[in-house]
Amino acid sequence: LPWTEDVSQLMAQRLSPWITQTLRRLGRRAEEMSLKAYVVGGFVRDLLLGKENQDLDIVIEGDALAFIKSWETDGCKVAVHERYKTGTIVFPGDKKVDVATARREFYEYPVALPKVAGDSLKHDLYRRDFTVNSMAISINRTSWGTLIDYFGGRRDLQSRQLRVLHNLSFVEDPTRVLRGLRLKQRLGFEFEDNTFRLIKSAVKGGLLGLLSGTRVKNELKLIFMEEKVYPIVLEMVRLNIFEALFSGIKVDRNCIRIVRRLSFFLRRLRYDLPDIEEDVWLAFLAAVIFSSADWVQHATLDKLHLSKSNREIVEKALDDLGTAENAIGGKGMRSYEEIYLFLRDAPYVTALFWAAATQQWRVRRRILLYLTRLHRVNPILMGRDLVELGYPKGPLIGKILEELLLARLRGEVETREDEIKWVKNNYPLYVLKKG
Ligand code: CTP
Repeated sequence: LPWTEDVSQLMAQRLSPWITQTLRRLGRRAEEMSLKAYVVGGFVRDLLLGKENQDLDIVIEGDALAFIKSWETDGCKVAVHERYKTGTIVFPGDKKVDVATARREFYEYPVALPKVAGDSLKHDLYRRDFTVNSMAISINRTSWGTLIDYFGGRRDLQSRQLRVLHNLSFVEDPTRVLRGLRLKQRLGFEFEDNTFRLIKSAVKGGLLGLLSGTRVKNELKLIFMEEKVYPIVLEMVRLNIFEALFSGIKVDRNCIRIVRRLSFFLRRLRYDLPDIEEDVWLAFLAAVIFSSADWVQHATLDKLHLSKSNREIVEKALDDLGTAENAIGGKGMRSYEEIYLFLRDAPYVTALFWAAATQQWRVRRRILLYLTRLHRVNPILMGRDLVELGYPKGPLIGKILEELLLARLRGEVETREDEIKWVKNNYPLYVLKKG
């Protein structure tokens, strides 16, 4: 059959032992229950591209709920959505596998009945975003490793193109415009001509404006956490995506410059920066709304329903740039202590944003110094060392350690012996005993 191919060799070569073993087990169980099971979507795409992907999406033809629940007796945790007939199996070691029932509800497109797999698989795959994401591999024992590619996904992987399955794809789900831009950059693909035309008309037609703030937030977050954010943002600007998402927004050259600097810092300083994995997207969000009017900034943040702490990070970034420049800018010397004392009250991501947004190179350099070095400075002595030296347990210990940290930033202490001497000099025990 023209749309099938044996990829079991490729699977044997490329998949990790855990993935192979898990797929085998899932397939065997499906066979026992007289169900057909497939691994689908991004996992298949990445396997064919030779990229690692640990996210298993399984589609079952038949009753996925019974299938999922059957794993409970195997030491797995399971969670199901009765209504959507989907769920998750969590294998020991916290490895999650998503399982769904092949669906044909919602949209009934006139798809010719297939011959190999049951027709619900074909319908399920037809509901997906791009051809390269709409392939499946059978994992049942008897048909292990059969790639099922109804829509030319293989061909499009070869010619490195993102192509929608039908002309209503973006109408059906406008987040696919954002997914497409992200995937295009990540994979280094191009949009097929008709798909690109459909994207432009989806944007012109205002479809992106119809999305809920939460869905927009989720997609933006994924974009802003990609490895190469800058080119995606550039393309979004070129296509007027931000204007379509947030009315009144103005993404100008300043915004783009900040995005570029952020990307640069994150790439060059990745191993020196504090852990900001989870929040780093907020700096990009701040960059994108940097040049917009106050009311647009607020409306945008309202729409996205940020958590309180996330919102504070972004608002502080935008509102206090000038304050930061005054506090640690200027031609005069700024001591490490001064830099530290100002920046320690700001979230790391906020400080990172200031470093990218400021026009003053001294401010930028000082913030980067803080983020790569100063924030990590700590005394050698610990609380229990001070107790051993005779200091009473309690708030005093915290105060001494804090002062010791600042003394270290001033360069007054270096070794452990220096610190002990410093503590004894500045907090003489006989004074304490008297007091
Ligand atoms: N999908 C879709 N339309 C969406 C979201 C998802 O058609 N708006 C489909 C795609 O076929 C995708 C699959 O659902 O492959 C699983 O979604 P997800 O796990 O988000 O995507 P992956 O491609 O697996 O992963 P990623 O985009 O993170 O690489």
